[in-house]
Amino acid sequence: MRRVSVDSIPVGIKLARTIFSSDGGVLLEKGVELRESYVEQLRKRGISEVYLEDDISQGIQVNDVVNDETRNEAVVLVKKMMTGYNFSVTEEVEKVKAMVNKIIDELISNGDILYNLTEIKSVDDYTFEHSVNVCILSLITGIGLGFDTERLKELGIGAMMHDIGKLCIPREILKKPSQLTVDEFEEIKKHTILGYDMLKKCDRLNMTSAYIALGHHERYDGSGYPLHLKSENIQIFARIVAIADVYDALTSDRVYRKKLKPHEVYEYITSLGIYHFDPKVVESFVKYVTVYPVGTGVLLNTKERAIVVRENMKMPTRPLVRIVYDEKMQRLALPREIDLSEQASIFIINSCEV
Ligand SMILES: [Fe+2]
Repeated sequence: MRRVSVDSIPVGIKLARTIFSSDGGVLLEKGVELRESYVEQLRKRGISEVYLEDDISQGIQVNDVVNDETRNEAVVLVKKMMTGYNFSVTEEVEKVKAMVNKIIDELISNGDILYNLTEIKSVDDYTFEHSVNVCILSLITGIGLGFDTERLKELGIGAMMHDIGKLCIPREILKKPSQLTVDEFEEIKKHTILGYDMLKKCDRLNMTSAYIALGHHERYDGSGYPLHLKSENIQIFARIVAIADVYDALTSDRVYRKKLKPHEVYEYITSLGIYHFDPKVVESFVKYVTVYPVGTGVLLNTKERAIVVRENMKMPTRPLVRIVYDEKMQRLALPREIDLSEQASIFIINSCEV
């Protein structure tokens, strides 16, 4: 299978992964033939990419650290929690705990699989999907840092609820499609303190979860908010969630801007990001996050176009690829696979549609 933009779906092609709605249902089932009306439905929901199965991508398996059903179950739970009329941290917290335990079990049993951005994101459901992704990314980083299960549980719960304070921010500010005014941004910043206040009142939660809500916008160099804390003064879980939060936000389409590609975000986090984030946490984070996701198209320095077949954990920028178009954009009758970790003179220069 491969991942393509909804604007370049060939006629009559079959969907390779089920797309879930945030209400818990199935939007489009795996195997369905993608007619124009379905594609239009996806566009309306703000879904910009899908996985499809075709001859050039045959045999390419896209695995993720957490299975689609678990991820969807978590998104539904967060949506209920963040849109419920009678929200109560105490009532919801047991459900969040159970969900985090399930995610930790899957992450540990899946072992060394990279976080592959396999979920199909919708602009409308951003907040809920984002909370789940931040939880998964934070847990992967925590596992890499050698945390035991108890610490992972605290980290996961706080990460999943890191933006809970947004419940108290006016919707028109949160959903504003254009740039925020200075006053509006000041209002948004309050979600850190409001979230901290909500979570610290819950006696079934450890205070570390509340510190995540408070500190996930602090920056290692002191340039963050709300308290402008620096380096080790920022609680360690908040330092982890800070990277996960930025990574997922930048790799997601928003109403006011297009998403960046995973390799662009990787470049940012490993370069400028070292001022904003704890370098030890960055080191663990980038080890488990894919640079060129399996199933996506890449442009090589030879001008050939290829699909990523398998990642290489030791050399993340040099995966195994299947070349499907030559330098003149002619489709190859017989695509060939090359392992870029064994080819010093061939490398990826960008991601692209194939
Ligand atoms: Fe936030």
